[in-house]
Amino acid sequence: MHEFQYRAGRLCCEKVPVDKIVREHGSPVYVYSQRTLTEHFQRLDAALGLADRLICYAVKANSNLAVLRTLADLGSGFDIVSEGELRRVVAAGGDPGRCVFAGVGKTAREIEFALRQGIYCFNVESEPELERINKVAGRLRKTAPVAVRVNPNVDAHTHAKITTGTYENKFGIAFEQVEAVYARAAKLKHIRLRGLQMHIGSQLTELEPFEQAVRRVAPLAQRLAERYPLEFLSIGGGIGIVYQPALRSGAPEWWRKGPSRNLLTPATYAAALVPLLKPLGLRLLLEPGRYIVGNAGILVTRVEYIKRTGRKNFVIVDAAMNDLIRPAFYDAYHEIVPVRQTTSKKVSSDVVGPICESGDYFCKDRLLPVLAEGDLIALLSAGAYGSVMGSNYNSRAFPAEVMVDGAKFSLVRRRQQLEEIWRLEQLPSWCGDR
Ligand code: LLP
Repeated sequence: MHEFQYRAGRLCCEKVPVDKIVREHGSPVYVYSQRTLTEHFQRLDAALGLADRLICYAVKANSNLAVLRTLADLGSGFDIVSEGELRRVVAAGGDPGRCVFAGVGKTAREIEFALRQGIYCFNVESEPELERINKVAGRLRKTAPVAVRVNPNVDAHTHAKITTGTYENKFGIAFEQVEAVYARAAKLKHIRLRGLQMHIGSQLTELEPFEQAVRRVAPLAQRLAERYPLEFLSIGGGIGIVYQPALRSGAPEWWRKGPSRNLLTPATYAAALVPLLKPLGLRLLLEPGRYIVGNAGILVTRVEYIKRTGRKNFVIVDAAMNDLIRPAFYDAYHEIVPVRQTTSKKVSSDVVGPICESGDYFCKDRLLPVLAEGDLIALLSAGAYGSVMGSNYNSRAFPAEVMVDGAKFSLVRRRQQLEEIWRLEQLPSWCGDR
């Protein structure tokens, strides 16, 4: 479900024609639908049904202040992985008391900052980290709330670069070692055991790995809660979204097999997992990123050239892998649609950026409407892990970002100016003036 639809042949975000946004703010530009964000948050939150629950939106998916504020206003907590992300949450008006701090490499400085802000919990990923948190908390005369991240060793059936819950990965503490770590933690003076956490990977499109992991982890949570005053169990993020139109509108094979229990939606997710979790009597935490924001954003780009080589039809656009790296990095699929529907004629095309790398493409050999120089196209489902993974490669400026609410739209990140790219650089002291 999202709010990007055609009205009289013009692609609109909610009630705003996308080409109107480009006329005002140029291209490439990220466009976010506030209503889609809100609906996704509310749908997931309502599906959980449990009285004691907290969605901690994974800031890494899209950390624009406007996105964070929208979610904070809905009562969301936040899953953060750095001091920078915590500072963003605070800058956006979010509540540090609803933040969980994940990540395998928390520095002493980050731990100190998070403790001073009064975060809800540290998700601890190793014993040395636990010792460090205890030490920093002691120095500040504070008690640090912690949960241990358990690695349940299940295969999430997702892309190798975004699977996290097996023993091949650097994340979490091995299932078999967790109880010993809690025993150790309980002896540390400046640690308060508050919960248990897991996360098995991202872009999961099946229920089964979640179910398998929760079936492993729930009894562990039960045993730990009998011994320590635990308050919550976090089952992480990872709910996948539909990137491919064939899966959105057609009937994919696993669906044809019968109205599948395996179809991953907030409703089926909650129906499968909540009954396993409810008897624990613990607060339930979720850390979704992509599900909330993925389909709430698009990247709009303009066609600069059409280059026909005899073998290929290259559509060269003004966005590139530095703006959206997912196709280059994960072979990810993003649906590509014209901003104005002018023709039904289609041609096999490669949409590519101007960067000097063969990996700089958004799609290969895909049947797309015939495009011409100056046309605008949109890369859909670009709200999550789009802008946040951007870089200045090839000294290309970060694009503008715009948020839409109904018939209103507002700039939520201005386009970077070229001079800002090298503002932090300087010549070495031994270079003379020129
Ligand atoms: N919690 C933890 C501990 C995580 O590591 C992550 C994502 C999340 C929650 C949120 O996962 P989500 O609900 O968004 O799947 N850049 C990749 C995705 C990396 C995910 C990293 N961790 C991509 O573009 O697909």
